[in-house]
Amino acid sequence: MDIRIQSQILQKSSAANPGGRRSPINEPYPFSYGIFALPERIITQVIQQAASWLTRPSFHRPELLLAHSKLSLFGSRAVLLTGPAANKFIFFSEAFVPQQPKSMTGIIGRRNILELVGDDHRRVRDALAHFLKPEVLKQSVGMIDREVRHHLERNWIGRRSVMPLMKTLTFDIVCSLIIGLEKGSLREALEEAFTDMLPGMWAVPLNLPFTKFHRSLRASRRARKVLAGVIETKKAMLKQGRCSRDEDLITYMLSLGGEDDARELTEEEILDNLMLIMVAGSDTSAALITFMIRHLADDPVNRAIVIHEQQEIAKGKASGEALTWSDLNKMKHTWCAAMEILRMIPPIFGNFRRALKDIEYEGYLIPKGWLVFWASSITQMDEHIFEDPNKFDPTRFEKQSSVPPCSFVAFGGGPRMCPGNEFARMETLVMMHYVATRFNWRLCCEENGFSRDPNPSPAQGLPVELELKD
Ligand code: HEM
Repeated sequence: MDIRIQSQILQKSSAANPGGRRSPINEPYPFSYGIFALPERIITQVIQQAASWLTRPSFHRPELLLAHSKLSLFGSRAVLLTGPAANKFIFFSEAFVPQQPKSMTGIIGRRNILELVGDDHRRVRDALAHFLKPEVLKQSVGMIDREVRHHLERNWIGRRSVMPLMKTLTFDIVCSLIIGLEKGSLREALEEAFTDMLPGMWAVPLNLPFTKFHRSLRASRRARKVLAGVIETKKAMLKQGRCSRDEDLITYMLSLGGEDDARELTEEEILDNLMLIMVAGSDTSAALITFMIRHLADDPVNRAIVIHEQQEIAKGKASGEALTWSDLNKMKHTWCAAMEILRMIPPIFGNFRRALKDIEYEGYLIPKGWLVFWASSITQMDEHIFEDPNKFDPTRFEKQSSVPPCSFVAFGGGPRMCPGNEFARMETLVMMHYVATRFNWRLCCEENGFSRDPNPSPAQGLPVELELKD
């Protein structure tokens, strides 16, 4: 669909700004005036448009943004806000609620956490966050270690495409850890359903037999059927005392509630949020690991630092001994390198919120009903915050205090900040440990670009030639 775009300037709030202010176009930062207006049903196309802008080196220059900026004027209006202050404003203000494309809601389910606000959001978030907090996750390092080693032994040989393999790996880890579903036919059926489901998540929500959205809806029904079966089995096991509350996220969510316990989740909420976690928790981490492998292949200095750190940890382990939580905490350089990848190529480059009421920002009025888009890439590539932003420099993250608040927002911020960040850290570090200590790898693709769908994906899925170290 063709998106017609024009430029538009936010209306200044005269009450908040009686003396008037500079024209927004002259303000270097933050810029609150690159504006899209779009019908809700074509958020997808706007995201794709935004993605293409974001890959332009000039994008963080406001005047160029406006030059590129065009606006479609049928349906909801939207404003792009960027910079640490704007991020803070969006993340912490109760005047905004998340706004997902209709296609995504249809496929994932209307009670998924991104659709919930207020007490409902807190109730579901508490359940997810309980399971994803370090105190609980640290008991699962051994399980991730097992999944990673099994994956490498089976798949890492010869010439392979990294991205599809990483998607399978991260999906398997989520299956084991979050829903307690071990390898086997059910897991395979679920993976197949999710693979078929994802392409329509951002498609135009037109439910006709030949559309992407239709195919995704059908795949979503298959995935839900498998998950509903798993939930039923877990429920029976809990009743018979054959598993404990803390076995996995499903048993935990099923155990909440009861008399006087307001934390109860409905079955619809359990199912919809499992669907969301499977999506939110796998392709994002897969992109991070893939781009790390891509970058380190061509950066001998940082590769040597990562390999040295990992070899030092490997020296302290007996053959076949699994990594532990304390090993992960020693992988400081490796995690700094991962953060630098997240800064330069964030798996989620931004998201929409909707204004529930008229709200002012820096003297500008954002009217009720408008969409607001925050974009991590723009802030994270701003030379005023990250000097020489195109340079890959993990040392920026050595001292967390030197990164200003709300400047590194690859995991979002505020009450909706990603609760899976520790989970992502664990799987990335475990995988990089074994890649760095056991393999030499060489990129086999001349093309160094990537596209977004909307997650970043390297050209041809990143083909590499792998060689086992002696
Ligand atoms: C490198 C990996 C990941 C990245 C970069 C990432 C990024 C993000 C971002 C930016 C948000 C906030 C979106 C917004 O405010 O609009 C978010 C939310 C969320 N993420 Fe992640 N994520 C990652 C991995 C994970 C994992 C592994 C899980 C679960 C196992 C997860 C579960 C969630 C959930 C449930 C939310 C919604 C939170 C809420 O609305 O309260 N994410 N993620």
